[in-house]
Amino acid sequence: MSDHKLIYRCQQCGHISPKWMGKCPECEAWDSLVEEVAAKGHLKAAKIARHLSRPVSLEEIRADSEPRFLTGTGEWDRVLGGGLTRGSIVLLAGDPGIGKSTLLLQALSKMAAQGPVLYVSGEESPQQLKSRAHRLGISSRDLYIFSETSLEAVLEEMEKKPPLAVAVDSIQTMHTRMLDVAPGSISQVRECASRLMRAGKETGVSIFIIGHVTKEGAIAGPRALEHLVDTVLYLEGDRTHAFRLLRAVKNRFGSTNEVGVFEMKENGLEEVPNPSQLLLAERPRGVSGSVVACSVEGTRPILVELQALVSATGWMQPRRTSMGVDTNRLSLLLAVLEKKLGFNFAQQDVFVNVAGGVRLVEPAADLALTTALMSSYLDRPLPADLVVWGEVGLAGEVRGVGHSALRAAEASKLGFSTCLTPRSNAERFPHDMEGRCLGVRSLQEVLQVVFEQGSGAPERGGR
Ligand SMILES: Nc1ncnc2c1ncn2[C@@H]1O[C@H](COP(=O)(O)OP(=O)(O)OP(=O)(O)O)[C@@H](O)[C@H]1O
Ligand SMILES: [Mg+2]
Repeated sequence: MSDHKLIYRCQQCGHISPKWMGKCPECEAWDSLVEEVAAKGHLKAAKIARHLSRPVSLEEIRADSEPRFLTGTGEWDRVLGGGLTRGSIVLLAGDPGIGKSTLLLQALSKMAAQGPVLYVSGEESPQQLKSRAHRLGISSRDLYIFSETSLEAVLEEMEKKPPLAVAVDSIQTMHTRMLDVAPGSISQVRECASRLMRAGKETGVSIFIIGHVTKEGAIAGPRALEHLVDTVLYLEGDRTHAFRLLRAVKNRFGSTNEVGVFEMKENGLEEVPNPSQLLLAERPRGVSGSVVACSVEGTRPILVELQALVSATGWMQPRRTSMGVDTNRLSLLLAVLEKKLGFNFAQQDVFVNVAGGVRLVEPAADLALTTALMSSYLDRPLPADLVVWGEVGLAGEVRGVGHSALRAAEASKLGFSTCLTPRSNAERFPHDMEGRCLGVRSLQEVLQVVFEQGSGAPERGGR
């Protein structure tokens, strides 16, 4: 018994305390300390068992002939930075029921064309997985299903006959014998992930692990997992919409902020190679408050419809609601419109929505958002063939953004003939591009150029 010591570990940040406390002194989370037994002897033995290595000169290290391979799904390859790196560990996180298992099962079935792959599920039985595979139209001899929650069993399988890739669904259900705590607790999750990572690096097997996201939006319990793995992917989207975005938030082997776009259908998640077209399919024409924005996600421009609704409030405190745009950014832009252009939102509710459940994170969406707000406030629709991008500063100035040529090309490809952009971007607008470019230096100029309003406080249109 002397080898076992009781400790209390915070399930949020991993802080260890010798006694129980109601509040974690490290991350200040309430009721997050859980009792566990630190099996010191086991951990020590495991440390010694790891084989010893020595420093090697960079020259001596053999470069792999092909360190990456294509997964067979274009959107996955894009997000991973041009294919999957051998021996890498990828964390796929997302809200419950968003489609993580579906996406990974489909991806693995495509990879199975190049070699055996293993899908470890601690959540579903082989029969349940079979019925899902049947619905998704998947059948492959080289896709092996393993219903198991013991980490040691999975590692043994991986060593016996190393597959091309392993998927673990989910890391919260796995447990190792080395720790005497429940599966899903932070120490189990971290230990399982780090041992999987070591096994992957040693055998060259690429590993995917699924992680659940908590109510607060963190990958359940351990944010620490994000540091451990090579790549962190978030599967995002509004469950009521069919669109799902696979977003890289960390990638040791490629660019971050790349997105893959999928659409949820009866037969699974289907790739969307041209998302702009689909996102704009049901756009209303000639309606005030609707603007087409161009956002660049990684290296891909996406055109989305941004809608704003400014309407007289019936409340003491007017409402500010935004979906797909940061609420703080919205408040900031409303303040700029009030202070610099004389708009008055004091008695107005403001609602903002990005169609298709897309989230706009780039500051380049500022100008589109302000234009949508102006349009709704003035009740003046924008031309249907207008695309807007640019950053807005606190002084009401419109600042240049990157990837101007890329945005212009996407707009032109989809038949938009006018771009409203920062002046600095307009000066470098590609000459061979069809259509025209309206360059503006300030929001005042937007009022003049787009809404043909002179100086003085803008008149509120409609009711
Ligand atoms: N018969 C069906 N037809 C169409 N869509 C379906 C069908 N069955 C399931 N789906 C979709 O698949 C989603 C569930 O996918 P999946 O089980 O892959 O999610 P998950 O993220 O792995 O969930 P969990 O967090 O519970 O493991 C559902 O939300 C639903 O949108
Ligand atoms: Mg699942």
